[in-house]
Order: sequence, then C-alpha cells, then structure tokens
Amino acid sequence: MHPAPQLSERITRLRSSLVREILAAAQAPGMISFAGGLPSADAMPILHDSDTSHDWQSPVFQQYGQSEGEPLLRSRLAGWLAESGLTVSAEQTLVLSGSQQGIDLAAKLFVDPGTPMLCEAPTYLAALQAFQLFGAHCIGLPLTDEGIDTAHLAEMIETHKPRAIYVIPTFQNPSGHCYSAANRQAVAEVLDHYGLPLIEDEPYRELMYDAVDRTPICSLLKRAPWIYLGSFSKTLWPGWRVGFLAASNDLFPHLLRLKQAGDLHTNRPGQIRVANWLVSNNRNNDLAHLRSTYKHKRDAMNDALKNTFGHLADWETPAGGLFFWLQLRNAIDTRPLLKIALERGVAFMPGEAFYPASSTPKLGTMRLNFSHANAENMKKGLKMLAGIVEEHG
Ligand SMILES: Cc1ncc(COP(=O)(O)O)c(C=O)c1O
Repeated sequence: MHPAPQLSERITRLRSSLVREILAAAQAPGMISFAGGLPSADAMPILHDSDTSHDWQSPVFQQYGQSEGEPLLRSRLAGWLAESGLTVSAEQTLVLSGSQQGIDLAAKLFVDPGTPMLCEAPTYLAALQAFQLFGAHCIGLPLTDEGIDTAHLAEMIETHKPRAIYVIPTFQNPSGHCYSAANRQAVAEVLDHYGLPLIEDEPYRELMYDAVDRTPICSLLKRAPWIYLGSFSKTLWPGWRVGFLAASNDLFPHLLRLKQAGDLHTNRPGQIRVANWLVSNNRNNDLAHLRSTYKHKRDAMNDALKNTFGHLADWETPAGGLFFWLQLRNAIDTRPLLKIALERGVAFMPGEAFYPASSTPKLGTMRLNFSHANAENMKKGLKMLAGIVEEHG
C-alpha cells in the first residue's frame, strides 16, 4: 500500500459546489428542476449557416491560437462593450473559457491565504468557491433595495482593508436584484476614493425583461483598477464555453499571463462562431426572442408562485436574469428541505448556501429558476414545494 498522496494545503479549503451537485440530481429523469441557471432550449438562438464557418480545414479548427483570443472576436467584443457603455480597446479584452474562468483568474491575481475580499451576501456560489480555495476571507455586504449600502461599504473597506470587491450588479445571482443608477454611481465613487479594485460580473445583462439601468460600474470609475466579466453562456450556448473579460491597463498583463498558464487559449471554433454572431443580421432578433421567451416564463412563474406561495413567502418580480428569490414568512432553514424535495421529484436551491462563510445566512430563503421547467411542470413543482414548506414550517 502506498501512502496517501501529499496534496497542496489549499486542497483542505476546496469545497464542492452545491449547485453542481444538485444539478446532477436535478437532471435525473422526471425531476422538476428550479435549481440551476440552465438556459431553456426554446429560448436559445438557432445556429444559422451564416454564423458558422464550414471550412474544417481552416487553421481555426486545427491549430493553436493566441492566448488573448481571436483578433476578430476581440475587436467585436470592444464594439459589444461600447454598446453597454464601457469604452475599451480590443487590446484590453481577453477571451475566456466561460466567465467562470475570469473569476478563477481574479482569485489567482488577488488572493493569498487570509486575504480579505468583499462580496455581496448572498452571492454567486462558485465565486465563493474560487476565492475561498485560494484562502480568501470573504466578507459579505448585505443587499439593499438600491444595491449595496455605500456608507457600509466604506466602513468595511476601512475596517478590513480588502484587496478587491466582487459584485454582480445586474440581475444578481441569486437574488435577481439590480442596482439603481444612483447606487452604481455611489459605489464607483467609494471605490475610486479608496482605489479598491472592482471585479464586476455580468453574465445576465442581456436577459432584461423590464427597463432598468444597467450601466457597468466599471465604466463609471475614474481611478480604481477594474475587471469586467462577460459571458455568452446565458445569451447563446453555455456548452461552447465562451466568455470574456476587459480590464484596466494595470491589471490586464497579469490576467493575460494567468490565462496563458491556465489553458493557453479558449476553443477557437466557438470564438469564431460568437464573433460571427455579434455582427450577424440575426443577433438582435435572437436577443428579442430570448427576452420575450424568458419574460413569458417569468410571468408564468410569478402567477404560479402567487397561487402556491402567496400565503407563505414574499418576493420581488425580477426585472431580468433567471431567478426568483423567495423569503419565506416563517424563516426556517431551507437546507433540510432539499433532501425531501429531491425525494419527491423537485429541485430548488436553498438560499442559505449563497452566503460567505463569515456572514450569518438569512434563513427562509430559496432561489427558484424559471427558465427551465415547462408551464405544466412549473405549476406542479411549485405546488409540491409549497406543500413541503407547509409541512415543515
Ligand atoms: C454570476 C455568475 N458568474 C459567472 C457564471 C459562469 O458563467 P460561464 O458559463 O460564463 O462560465 C455564472 C453561471 O451561472 C454566474 O451565475
């Protein structure tokens, strides 16, 4: 018998992602899933011949590419970002294998064991997983109706001297919240004042159903370093794994080297397809179809929630994104309900899981995805879930 292999000390901090574990259970035949953020097949754009190159002998399909990404895609990304209000050069963009890779690169860039990092509470679970792996002490900032409380933000910066802040201001995961225009400006001013680097993660920004301000906070900064993360996973196809970042000039060279060390470059055929889609005639129709399909599903879910959870919970109708965030009136811990729900054939995400280890989780919260289940299953699944909450509340 050989002794157990000796692993790095960071492996002691490696947590498995509850979302990905539930996702495996949620994909069992017959399961009604409100758990993941899976895009719906009927909302996804149809791949048109003009979006794809069929020259399979082309070097794009056979050879190594540049770590920065395909030049064609990078120049089109700069145009795409300009449409959102963020002015960058193509040289400031880096193509990623999904925006999750950007979180990993940011963690490698900023975090040593014990490094304080600010984030929202609740926040994206896999970002916590990545930051905590490198030893971050993640400090959660509670969400308000406006976004985050900037007086509290300043106090947390003074007290903890964090190295960076990670936020999802537009259709936040898991809460669906969207920061107001005034809050975006106020956050930018605080970050500029302290020179605190911002990591802004925006995978859901195109999934807008009601008009709201979506100005990237990065575009409002005058001095603080920044990394802006974007993705095509929620807009096109998550399986292609094409995301991107743009960063201030002081951070960009480090991120590029981290990308080189990580996976050399993102898959080239996927990059070319996204680059073609960005300038295709179908793009705006595809986005309109995506929004109207999800808006319809969101409204159906809202109605079904009123009928099943109306007496049990409160929630806001999200203006975009893929999730409802429920606050049960009886604030019980929803984690133990998950096992019962899975046994009965319905999956959801307990809200408590989205809080950093140092924050006290808000009990009685549930994240429910509305993009995946069809109308019939939506009603059936919510009825089952409400029954479980009533039995155990
Ligand atoms: C907030 C947030 N950031 C990043 C990601 C990762 O997305 P990608 O598929 O681009 O890696 C997700 C996926 O759900 C997410 O919700």
